[in-house]
Amino acid sequence: MESTIAQQNTAAEYQQLHDLLAPWNQTHVLRFWDQLTADAQQHLTDQILNIDFALLSELREQQCDHESADRAASRAEPPAACRPQELDASEREAARAAGAHLLRSGKCGVVIVAGGQGSRLGFEHPKGMYPIGPVSGASLFQILVEKIRATAARYDISIPLYLMTSPATHEETLAFFAANDRFGLAQDELFVFCQGTMPGVDESGRLILSAPDTIFMSPDGHGGMLAAMQRSGAFDHMQVHGIEHLFYCQVDNALVDLPGEEFLGYHLLSDSEVTTQVIAKQDPLEKVGNVVSVDGCLKIIEYSDLPASCAQLRCEDGRLRLWAGNLAVHAFRVDFLTSCCEGDARLPFHVAHKKIAFINAEGNSEKPQSPNGIKYEQFIFDLLPRASSAIVVEVQEADCFAPLKNASGKDSPDDVRSKMSQLYHRWLVAAGIDVPEDTVLEISPLAALGPEDLTDVAACERLSGSWYIGRG
Ligand code: UTP
Repeated sequence: MESTIAQQNTAAEYQQLHDLLAPWNQTHVLRFWDQLTADAQQHLTDQILNIDFALLSELREQQCDHESADRAASRAEPPAACRPQELDASEREAARAAGAHLLRSGKCGVVIVAGGQGSRLGFEHPKGMYPIGPVSGASLFQILVEKIRATAARYDISIPLYLMTSPATHEETLAFFAANDRFGLAQDELFVFCQGTMPGVDESGRLILSAPDTIFMSPDGHGGMLAAMQRSGAFDHMQVHGIEHLFYCQVDNALVDLPGEEFLGYHLLSDSEVTTQVIAKQDPLEKVGNVVSVDGCLKIIEYSDLPASCAQLRCEDGRLRLWAGNLAVHAFRVDFLTSCCEGDARLPFHVAHKKIAFINAEGNSEKPQSPNGIKYEQFIFDLLPRASSAIVVEVQEADCFAPLKNASGKDSPDDVRSKMSQLYHRWLVAAGIDVPEDTVLEISPLAALGPEDLTDVAACERLSGSWYIGRG
């Protein structure tokens, strides 16, 4: 008797789901329904009910508008910029003083996005856990948090960290911070919030099953930060703690100049809503997003969307006209971010063609050799054109950019460690300290945030071929 009622219930539930999915041509996700346990049916039901099918269909209909990308590129002009090397010493000093003033006021927080799946690196844990310290093996999380703590100590303030995870990284990240006593942050200085997800689809727009009871979902991109901050109460936390500006960076940049007094100074002095760190591109076709101004708005045109004829234009002095390459480091005014959450103008979704493992019609798992599906992602830099005042600040790549992306070659662990060691070498030389050329070097942010802090290196552990300078 009981089993007959259960069968009727599940049949009714099946029918309801079928009716919901049919108009969107997605009923195939119920293919294994009869073979699923009650829990698995519930899991699949919850997933289906949380999918915005109208949005998926809208995204499907939006053709990739290359023509509009080309039109934007043809109108692209150099962005409004601070290029510190062209300023005199007093202007730079004024920027540093303004940045220091902002930090001392305690109105600046830090947001680190760490929700990506790090698929190119192939590390089985959240990328922030990667042991990148060239001598100590300290994780990216530890190094970045220590930069925050060292800055907070310098100004005798508290700097809250807003850390974005995704369902792919959330639990492990929480456990890692808990096991390491939050790397010294107080409980109220760490606000972890989880971004949303988007379903992936195959090339014909149909959902993909990654297990008989599971629709493939992936994080909704670093642009998911905005909605996730609002949902999680991060903006409320900022309001309570008087945070008016956020320094934004990505978890994989081991050399980020965090929180960059001088950079924050230009942000403040220009009364900018969004300020973006850029490098001067060396090669016109360099694989880096181009920060440009289109119709008076700051915009990033991806290298793949910038026609070579535009990229190669030069000014009279021979320098590249569209010179600014994006480093994915920003300063945001919090009131600008909250204003972007108002109304229903969401950030656009970008399409990425990826290899997505799936369950075939027979229920067997398959790993494709070439891209078979689409992931939808929002990008944080799509906020730039919405700012009524925005500038870029030029920095030197070797001083503040070493992203960990790949398992080997450029941007691999070896590459990042070598860039870290080379920077620390330059710091020691600038501080007048002799160090053998081929020494592997690491300086804890708690010991020094720059060469000016390296007055006493008594705490230096000089092992054969490697030096670790920790807190004295
Ligand atoms: P990437 O686009 O380089 O992605 O992210 P990734 O996950 O690190 O690596 P691949 O592409 O899978 O190999 C740049 C930064 O944005 C964050 C990442 O954690 C990284 O700090 N990110 C990316 C998110 O926080 N959420 C996302 O959905 C995507």
